[in-house]
Amino acid sequence: MMDIFEEINTLKKKKNAVILAHYYQEPDIQDIADFVGDSLELARAAQSTEAELIVFAGVHFMAEGAKILNPSRKVVLPDLRAGCSLSDSCPPDAFARFRAKHPDHFVVSYINCSAEIKAQSDVICTSSNALRIVQRIPKERPIIFAPDRNLGAFIQKESGREMLLWQGSCIVHETFSERKIIELQVKYPDAELIAHPECEPSLLARARFVASTSGLLKHVVESPARSFIVATEGGILHQMRKKAPGKNLIAAPPNHECSCNECPFMKLNTLEKVLAALKNEEPEITLTDDLRRQALVPLQRMLDWSQ
Ligand code: 13P
Ligand code: SF4
Repeated sequence: MMDIFEEINTLKKKKNAVILAHYYQEPDIQDIADFVGDSLELARAAQSTEAELIVFAGVHFMAEGAKILNPSRKVVLPDLRAGCSLSDSCPPDAFARFRAKHPDHFVVSYINCSAEIKAQSDVICTSSNALRIVQRIPKERPIIFAPDRNLGAFIQKESGREMLLWQGSCIVHETFSERKIIELQVKYPDAELIAHPECEPSLLARARFVASTSGLLKHVVESPARSFIVATEGGILHQMRKKAPGKNLIAAPPNHECSCNECPFMKLNTLEKVLAALKNEEPEITLTDDLRRQALVPLQRMLDWSQ
């Protein structure tokens, strides 16, 4: 009898399918995937794939992005309930009313948002290109940044550009306990605190290095430091352990005795659901043509601006 890994690999070949996985997926999914990356790398991989079927092991806005960028492919998400608290914190109607109050503003939206929000934006960014994107906007143009207030505040500081920030946030990245992190820094004085920009400003101000998931991974591999306190979702530690064996990796602790530093949406996907999605070619991501075309404009602009 074939084990689940063999079954997935056999089906993948038979169906000309590709599995794209984000770093926050469980280790087994990362290991079976054809490509593991951050949001920007995954968007590029989805756009350029020759595969007929894309199994997107990530959350809904990522799979939706793949469909927007490569509409002739079938895109499936192992668990359709894999949403995102940050995306949910920006409802399209409320955002449309907010935009209407500031019609002269250029709208930059973080990729962690729905197709409806993308369609209302001038350009999209991810955590790895947000600074570059904002720096491309003419100085005289006021900016709205949505939906993440923490990434927005961080980019505001880095770029020196004033921005109107939509007040959304991620439940995972706002869970870290600064008190416990300080205790860890006292215990491990050589450990570098590294953080994802979705974390709160006070934590980011303490961090030695702030970057997207891929940026954090690269830093751990290349930095001469031996020890790191990692303030982002714990799934990234799997690749860090693989690519930087021997380095001491400490997951930044959450506020309570919980696993709140694990993204509950990302973790809805399991290896069994990946197999089922591959087998049944569902749940499928679909969009109306109109919405897809409108959302493609700012998404493609992001890719063009971050060549
Ligand atoms: P990255 O683009 O850095 O991988 O971030 C995605 C995400 O959802 C962070 O919470
Ligand atoms: Fe969304 Fe936060 Fe999960 Fe990333 S970690 S997918 S921002 S809820």
